[in-house]
Amino acid sequence: MATTSETTEEPGKRRDRSAVRTLLRLWPYVRPVRVRLFTAAFVAVLASCAGLVIPLVLKWMVDGPVADRDSAGVWLGALFLLLLGLTEALLFGLRRWLVARPLAGVEAGMRADLYRHLQRLPVAFHDRWASGQLLSRGTTDLMLLRMFLAFPLTFLLVNGVTIVIGVVIMLIQEWTLGLVILGPAIPVIVTCVVFETRYTEVARRAQDQVGDLTTVVEESVLGIRIIKGFGRHRSQARAFRELSRTLRGTELRKAGLLATIWGVIVTLPEVAIGVALVLGAVQVADGSLSAGTLVAFLSTALALRWPVDSIGFLLAMSQEAATATERYFEVMDAEPESRATGATTRTGATTRTEDSGLRFHNVSFRYPDAPAGSPPVLDRIDLHIRPGESMALVGATGSGKTTLTALVPRLHEVTSGRITLDGEDITAMSREELRSKVAVAFEEPTLFSAGVGDNVLMGAHGTAGQAELERALTVAQADFVYALPQGTDTQVGEQGLSLSGGQRQRLALARAVVGRPRFLVLDDPLSALDVHTEAAVEAALRDVLAETTGLIVAHRPSTVLLADRVALLSGGRIVAVGTHQELLRTNAEYVHLMAGTEEAAQ
Ligand SMILES: Nc1ncnc2c1ncn2[C@@H]1O[C@H](COP(=O)(O)OP(=O)(O)OP(=O)(O)O)[C@@H](O)[C@H]1O
Ligand SMILES: [Mg+2]
Repeated sequence: MATTSETTEEPGKRRDRSAVRTLLRLWPYVRPVRVRLFTAAFVAVLASCAGLVIPLVLKWMVDGPVADRDSAGVWLGALFLLLLGLTEALLFGLRRWLVARPLAGVEAGMRADLYRHLQRLPVAFHDRWASGQLLSRGTTDLMLLRMFLAFPLTFLLVNGVTIVIGVVIMLIQEWTLGLVILGPAIPVIVTCVVFETRYTEVARRAQDQVGDLTTVVEESVLGIRIIKGFGRHRSQARAFRELSRTLRGTELRKAGLLATIWGVIVTLPEVAIGVALVLGAVQVADGSLSAGTLVAFLSTALALRWPVDSIGFLLAMSQEAATATERYFEVMDAEPESRATGATTRTGATTRTEDSGLRFHNVSFRYPDAPAGSPPVLDRIDLHIRPGESMALVGATGSGKTTLTALVPRLHEVTSGRITLDGEDITAMSREELRSKVAVAFEEPTLFSAGVGDNVLMGAHGTAGQAELERALTVAQADFVYALPQGTDTQVGEQGLSLSGGQRQRLALARAVVGRPRFLVLDDPLSALDVHTEAAVEAALRDVLAETTGLIVAHRPSTVLLADRVALLSGGRIVAVGTHQELLRTNAEYVHLMAGTEEAAQ
């Protein structure tokens, strides 16, 4: 179980972009709901302004009805205040109603895009990225983004407008006191700017660490048998504790930074208000300022307290949202599988017979993340499987057999050379076309959370029915499914019934043959079966292979005997091609590979 400390440096280039530039990338997703979002912002500004009218009403009341002891006037003022308060509350409620549903839609849309993109990214990408990192980007980060769109985005604007209007009102009331209140603005702005940079860095680190933590949790859930079987739960728990302690440290640092920002943002204006209160009281005593003006002034200042205080954490949330956006687009910017390159390599309508079948032309392959200078896994492979023929691929473990089979459905792209199906370069076909021609079954059979039947029918591109399903199950000797609680509708996969390795392998085989593919690629499809089941599958498979062109990775002579010819892969090259008997006679390495398993030379 690999430790994941290095995954904080995820591939995907880290660019130094400003938070605003990063957040602007969200526009395409926000665009469809822009009307609602702008309306909501406008409504919130109105609500905020309604709040700012309250001090002016107070001033009128203090200097008018209160001073004149006019109780009817006081009641009128009170009623007006009540109405203003009510309007403010209603408008804020309206805002929330306006944004909630569309923003949930934005989040869902972005998540769907991410998922679709992940499906289209090449296998090489998934080899490189820890799945926990992808998981956390699809969940936590998107939630942060929705919260940002719902809250900080609007309120940074609303609070900004409120502060400006409020300050103007205060300056109009009494400009000297207004300047006193404005005094702390500069130190507050400086603090924000200084801490923003540091906060960005820490926020990014925290989000990456959440990804690492997710990876550990995911691995321990998937590998629970190994962990228990080897008594590794302590060390696994330690690894988890280690990571979660690191994350806690980072979160604490974030909180510390926020506390400092907040301390400054809250304290300085508070002091300024105190100073203004004293100065104002002195002026009222001198008679140079009306009591009503002082009341209005101070209540405006107090009304601005929340907008000012909140700026700190609104900026912090925006910063986190920027980081989340960055992480989101790191995945979205990864190149998906290239499209068909066009018909440049088509050999034309008249397919020559020597080109039909499955053919490797001088194919070399090296994994994209292999260290530079290391020898390629596959080196100038030339192999021709004639139409209707089946070829067994034999080689020592680690010799590149799985790699070779993965090139045919283009799970990996050849580094050089080309592969043709009936003379047509596979890169010139669309992926749909290619994958409807080629069916594969891999060493590690994967079942999805769905019915057994659906799992098998996945291999047929929606063209097969019940009869095809039954035929495929027969070929794979998977009759056991009829004995399952709900027959072919029984749920399997993570959310369903657990099947044995051999049972899963047979379902994977059924999935490969159900669509009657022209080309069948099987990676050691019978390794988990007992001798009798294997013999039965082989007997049925022989009929299927008679109709298709097959490439079968084999370790055992019994599987090899299914094929017409055998190719031996060694040192990245095809070193011999011939029938089983020929290779047994002429190739020492082949004899060695086949020896020790059953009666090799029958
Ligand atoms: N995703 C990958 N990224 C980088 N290297 C890989 C990857 N998968 C396999 N390799 C390397 O490529 C080589 C060939 O692996 P491959 O799985 O093709 O062997 P194989 O012949 O199928 O072995 P086996 O008989 O054990 O299944 C190995 O050295 C392996 O380490
Ligand atoms: Mg393999």
